[in-house]
Amino acid sequence: MGKIVIAIDGYSGCGKSSTAKAVARDLGYTYIDSGAMYRAATLHFLNRHLSPTNPKDVKSGLQDLEITFQPNPDSGQQETYLNGLNVEKEIRSMRVSERVSDFAKVKEIREELVAQQQRLGRKKGVVMDGRDIGSVVFPDAELKVFMTADLDTRAFRRQQELIERGELVDLEDIKANLGQRDEIDSNRKESPLMKVADAVEIDTSNLTFAEQVAQIVHLAEQRIKQT
Ligand code: DC
Repeated sequence: MGKIVIAIDGYSGCGKSSTAKAVARDLGYTYIDSGAMYRAATLHFLNRHLSPTNPKDVKSGLQDLEITFQPNPDSGQQETYLNGLNVEKEIRSMRVSERVSDFAKVKEIREELVAQQQRLGRKKGVVMDGRDIGSVVFPDAELKVFMTADLDTRAFRRQQELIERGELVDLEDIKANLGQRDEIDSNRKESPLMKVADAVEIDTSNLTFAEQVAQIVHLAEQRIKQT
């Protein structure tokens, strides 16, 4: 039986990352969080006071941008490194969330990160989540999933996640941030978020976490048998 590529796209805060991670674990696949790469790139540009709208700044920022993933020795979970430094916690902060869509819409930044993502998935056996995985990064992925959930559910789930990380943020602020990101991500010129024709849509508003993982694992097992 061959290995496949699983592409999971969808709106901000649908639980794509945690679902993709669990699917990868169940299948013995590698999980790659493409959003973490856009977040790490954003942190890199912010730290260097480089603007996404200045072509010279974009060029200079991309020259020394190295994003890697390494498993945490205790939890085994993949963590994000920016130029050798562990930035896993920092890239999830509101400071980065508020600016990430501005950087994710820059063509040159996307080209660089898409090339890196394609290299990471070359050997298959990967689950990658993001916004353009089924449409741009892996248009030939054997399984494409498009996850949705209503805005209230997504904001509540994101708030819980931030609380677990020790960051207390007002629900209305989270809703505004998610709504704004959906808007920018869906309407940008470069690789907008969209459901491609061959993606399976899963609305997770009324599903438990275990249910949404089981649905995707089931679909994956069917596709794996066909390869
Ligand atoms: O999945 P996330 O919320 O961590 O992603 C952060 C931002 O990165 C999101 O607002 C849009 C952008 N992104 C993207 O444009 N393309 C991807 N493949 C993944 C994320």
